[in-house]
Amino acid sequence: MKKLTRLTAALLALMVGLALSLPACSSQEAEPSAAPAAPSQVPVGLAASAGGFADVDAGAWYAGAVDYVRKHELMNGVDGGRFDPEGTLTRAMLVTILWRQAEKPVVNYLMQFSDVPEGQWYSETVRWAASEKLVAGYGDGRFGTNDPITLEQLNLIFQRYTDQPVTDGIPGFDGSFRHATREAMEELGLKREDIFVTTKIYPGSEMANPEQAIQACLDRLNIDYVDLMLLHHPDRNDVIPYIQDLGIVVQGWYPLGGRGHTAELLGDEVISDIAKAHGASSAQVILRWNLQKGVVVIPGSSNPEHIEENAELYGFTLTDEEMAQINALDRNEKHDWY
Ligand SMILES: NC(=O)c1ccc[n+]([C@@H]2O[C@H](COP(=O)([O-])OP(=O)(O)OC[C@H]3O[C@@H](n4cnc5c(N)ncnc54)[C@H](OP(=O)(O)O)[C@@H]3O)[C@@H](O)[C@H]2O)c1
Repeated sequence: MKKLTRLTAALLALMVGLALSLPACSSQEAEPSAAPAAPSQVPVGLAASAGGFADVDAGAWYAGAVDYVRKHELMNGVDGGRFDPEGTLTRAMLVTILWRQAEKPVVNYLMQFSDVPEGQWYSETVRWAASEKLVAGYGDGRFGTNDPITLEQLNLIFQRYTDQPVTDGIPGFDGSFRHATREAMEELGLKREDIFVTTKIYPGSEMANPEQAIQACLDRLNIDYVDLMLLHHPDRNDVIPYIQDLGIVVQGWYPLGGRGHTAELLGDEVISDIAKAHGASSAQVILRWNLQKGVVVIPGSSNPEHIEENAELYGFTLTDEEMAQINALDRNEKHDWY
């Protein structure tokens, strides 16, 4: 923990000093401050100058922080022995630093950000960060690899990494979002029991310490209790009946594969054949399969015809054999695009 605190302090010192002037998160991609020469090399690479950085004055207020990240081989400057204090820290660079601090774990995790191809200097670091639920991407399938990190993103990632918010006190970041629900209730004259609040805890450190994680959510929200706590994401076929036996309701998100990724499921031969046999669509078969497993399934659609179709699920029943055929498509893979 002491190590984390020092890392956090060092990175914060750097971020506050060097990155406060960063633009807000933009979709425009910025090149890293030095291009990687090979997949194993990264912009904040290990090809370090041994004797400090020519462009960091020993008297600079952030010199100690620079010294810390260099000594611990977390950041090693750009080229020619420079640290580039005016440079931009990207999202990929930040998770690389955290990955190094975590001693470069290699994880087996299927992560499908459309802008994180295999074999890049950041592929493994982003995969690790996604598996640890430190990063979630933009919700449109992108991680935002070369986007500059914003203070809000930094706070959230560090909060997940250290279990506590760390940008309190930074000029221009007052953390007020934490009280937004309480303030909205007051403004609208609503009592706590008038609203229904859902939040979630993640696998990893949060699930390992559920009481602490739930308390942290309550402290952040400042609304005394939540109505529904999602446990993200118990997605294996054998886990579902176990959870249901405990009286916990299972919800199915991204049931059709997720926006932009539906072709594989909707075009699957087994599903298509079953759909044909019932005069239904593949989407209906998938949704019906969920319902018959007792899963509260939540498809998304912006197409009125699809929305109507997705609600028409009660005119046919899948046989036990068909249910088993669909269950057998399980590849024991976890897909996250959020
Ligand atoms: N709580 C969480 O952590 C969490 C995590 C993941 C997702 N979610 C939520 O889960 C919901 C579903 O996610 P999603 O919409 O990305 O994934 P999805 O339901 O798996 O897929 C939506 C895609 O399927 C298409 N589609 C829907 N009905 C169809 C039909 N009958 N035939 C053919 N295509 C059809 C949609 O296109 P059209 O628009 O053209 O119909 C859209 O491209 C969303 O509300 C999302 O926010 C929540």
